[in-house]
Amino acid sequence: MIDISIIKRIAYCCLGIFQIFCLASCIQKYSEITLPSPDFKIEFRLTLENGIPSYTVFCDNTVILRKSSFSFEFKNQPPLGTQLQIVDVKKSSCDETWNPVLGFSSSIRNNYNETWITFQEIDQNRRIIQLIARAYDNGIAFRYIIAGIHNQDSLFITNENSEFNFTSNDSAWWIPANEFAYESLYRHTPIDKITDANTPFTIERNDGLALSIHEAALINYSEMTLKKAKADSLSFISSLWPEPDGVCARVKAPFTTPWRVIMIARTPGELIESHLIQNLNEPNRITDYSWIKPMKFVGIWWGMHLGKYTWFQGPKHGATTKRTKEYIDFAATHHIEGVLAEGWNVGWESWAPGKTPLQNFCKATPDFNLEEVVKYSKSKNVQFISHHETGGNIPVYEAQLEDAFSLCQRLGITTVKTGYAGSILPSGYHHHGQFMVRHFQKVVETAAKYHVALDVHESIKPTGLDRTWPNLVSQEAIRGNEWNATYKATPPQHVTILPFTRFLAGPADYTPGIFRVNHSPEKNKRLYCTLTNQLALYVIFYSPLMMVSDMIENYSNSPAFKFIEKVPCTWDETKVIIASIGHYVTIARRSKDRWFIGSVTDEESRTLSIPLPFLEKGRKYIATVYGDSKLTNWEKDPEKVEIGNYLVTASDTIIAPLSRASGNAITIYPVEKESSDNFPSIAVYNTSTQEKMNVFKTIKPLGCSGIKHLALNKPINFKYPFNEKYPASGKSALTDGIKGSYNYSSGEWQGFEGVDLEATIDLVESKQVQKVSIGFLSSIDDWIFLPTKVEFYTSSDNKSFMKVGEIHHANSKPASNANSVQIKDFSVSISQENIRFVRVIGKGVLRCPEWHPGKGGKAWLFCDEIVVE
Ligand code: NOJ
Ligand code: CA
Repeated sequence: MIDISIIKRIAYCCLGIFQIFCLASCIQKYSEITLPSPDFKIEFRLTLENGIPSYTVFCDNTVILRKSSFSFEFKNQPPLGTQLQIVDVKKSSCDETWNPVLGFSSSIRNNYNETWITFQEIDQNRRIIQLIARAYDNGIAFRYIIAGIHNQDSLFITNENSEFNFTSNDSAWWIPANEFAYESLYRHTPIDKITDANTPFTIERNDGLALSIHEAALINYSEMTLKKAKADSLSFISSLWPEPDGVCARVKAPFTTPWRVIMIARTPGELIESHLIQNLNEPNRITDYSWIKPMKFVGIWWGMHLGKYTWFQGPKHGATTKRTKEYIDFAATHHIEGVLAEGWNVGWESWAPGKTPLQNFCKATPDFNLEEVVKYSKSKNVQFISHHETGGNIPVYEAQLEDAFSLCQRLGITTVKTGYAGSILPSGYHHHGQFMVRHFQKVVETAAKYHVALDVHESIKPTGLDRTWPNLVSQEAIRGNEWNATYKATPPQHVTILPFTRFLAGPADYTPGIFRVNHSPEKNKRLYCTLTNQLALYVIFYSPLMMVSDMIENYSNSPAFKFIEKVPCTWDETKVIIASIGHYVTIARRSKDRWFIGSVTDEESRTLSIPLPFLEKGRKYIATVYGDSKLTNWEKDPEKVEIGNYLVTASDTIIAPLSRASGNAITIYPVEKESSDNFPSIAVYNTSTQEKMNVFKTIKPLGCSGIKHLALNKPINFKYPFNEKYPASGKSALTDGIKGSYNYSSGEWQGFEGVDLEATIDLVESKQVQKVSIGFLSSIDDWIFLPTKVEFYTSSDNKSFMKVGEIHHANSKPASNANSVQIKDFSVSISQENIRFVRVIGKGVLRCPEWHPGKGGKAWLFCDEIVVE
């Protein structure tokens, strides 16, 4: 058989000569430029019709993006993108290999064909715009260079209209464009159901190809999100965040935009192995980077999220000298390289939603001796990680940047975690607009000057800048484990989606490693997974700053902690073994001659077959499997782990049984002493798999699937909308369905800001009702209060409603040592026939009371599902 790509190769060379000839002789007729990938399987094709350029993307001769045009709009000049002619075309190629300072592969090939196409307007403006496009074997990228007009050297960009026109209504994994810090659950819908989305935006095509749209090298510009283009449900257009004056990017001409990237893979797993985003960034600018170190770290952190400690000073203050030293001792004993202490500095008292956060990053609280702690950590060969929670107050942070980082350098602190949990000040600026992109960059560069590496929370999404600035070691921009503390619990499928979506952008500080899974039974709060699932995340997720996030006392005496001690957080090689987005994934990563394998599953129990062909042929290894025992049960015994050592070789396959919402973590070390031959072969482990699976099949489902959302068949009628920041999200319910209830919120909290809750539910058919209940959350530090009154009504016709109950609640000032986080159920027992509609009214506090730090500010009402029995 003739390889079609060879014919294409020859045709491409001839066409190139022909195109250059055409260009020289007759510019106007020049209307099509093709750019194949080095393996000729992917192609970028630029066409110019009637002065309007558009591009098409092909993979294996199939169109995967239909003709998509691009243009720009400005505040100070007419739009640019029509009436263009091509005046110059250059082509080049690159095939280089580079070594990242930190990475999930130690060596990265950067191999592409590139074209620079220069367009000029035909009309009197004669403005110039260039398109640089690159074709890789695993994707397409393009960016623009916009030249100035006449004598103007400033561009005020109000819109970039880069189109992404898909060809079929395939299945997409996405989060909405405007979610706070990207901390939301992924949606899974057909493309035509999406109004707007952020990137990485991942698509599984019916023909098996997997795509992800993202951007690279986001510098001095707004982030790009995608919004549905009118009139065509499969077409999206880029969208930028406007600054308060309506300008999205205020730049100096000529200006080069970030790359627009289409990652293309034959399987979803290949997306994970791709280095495209980093390849599109400039090489490392930090010459001496000896101070940038990958690190696992424990921290005074989870205790605050559970409400056991506080960030601010007082009787429950977490970051004291004494406790930090205990964490340092623990880290030193367990080969954990770093210790974080949040709340070490003064200013937390001013940090609350809606208040102006005034943190001081140079002054420690009286019970925290910074010098002493850092000295102690050094004596134990542990790094102290400092913390800057800005609360979003940019001027206050920028004023302290130099001092704060030079303090770090003086003391020898080489890693800082930063945070932006709050609305951005000055107000009016979007978290992900140009102002913030510039700020994040300024912090990275200032930190580099003082030899400080960063872990940025509530950051801008990564776009591969860690290649250029390797001190940008990790970022959050993800819905991490913190949500599993006392906020909204995360459904198990979340961790099986993230590797194919958010992690395509770059490392993420998800903060895995919660060993006390059922951490707050008294508050009905826990993680909806098992401990083996938490272990596996150390391999599934990539972050060179990797938190070991539980309180240290929860690790004591746990043999499973050995896995965390051993697992590295940077890698020489990464291979995705098996994957199905939203269901399961197994990833193997190598560090020197050792392999580590992680597998996670969603709410289904399943058997995963893990072949080991990547091991050196003829060599014997010991696999230590940290897997589920027969007793591992997300509900009853989530912390049960079975640990065993087995002999394996490259020709073996490990058959791992995974309980619901569970995981499996394996270390594979070469046999050093022949005495290790005494270990049983992996066949012994494999033979127990079926027996375990038989037990797992009897475990109660989590309620994430198969729930009858009867109410969703009819829209729920809200008098006041719930705040968009807290949307319901599909089938992510965790507690729903168990009672055969009518849920409208899918187990997610619904937040109502400064308004009452008034929800009317259509029960779809008339029936007998015995009981109606609703749960409310109180988290006074977060301005969330219980309602003052809850009223219950029923109706048979949606016209006349009868009050069937009323419960009062006094929101008095809690005692200083009281737990400010609680859940309270409000319910009424009734016995009524023929009920078709149920109405619940929760009277909110509306404004924070006098005694509250947010006095007068809008208070929140957070409710859980309404259960009708
Ligand atoms: C949100 C961050 O994601 C979390 O890690 C941190 O503990 C809090 N903000 C407080 O800074
Ligand atoms: Ca966060």
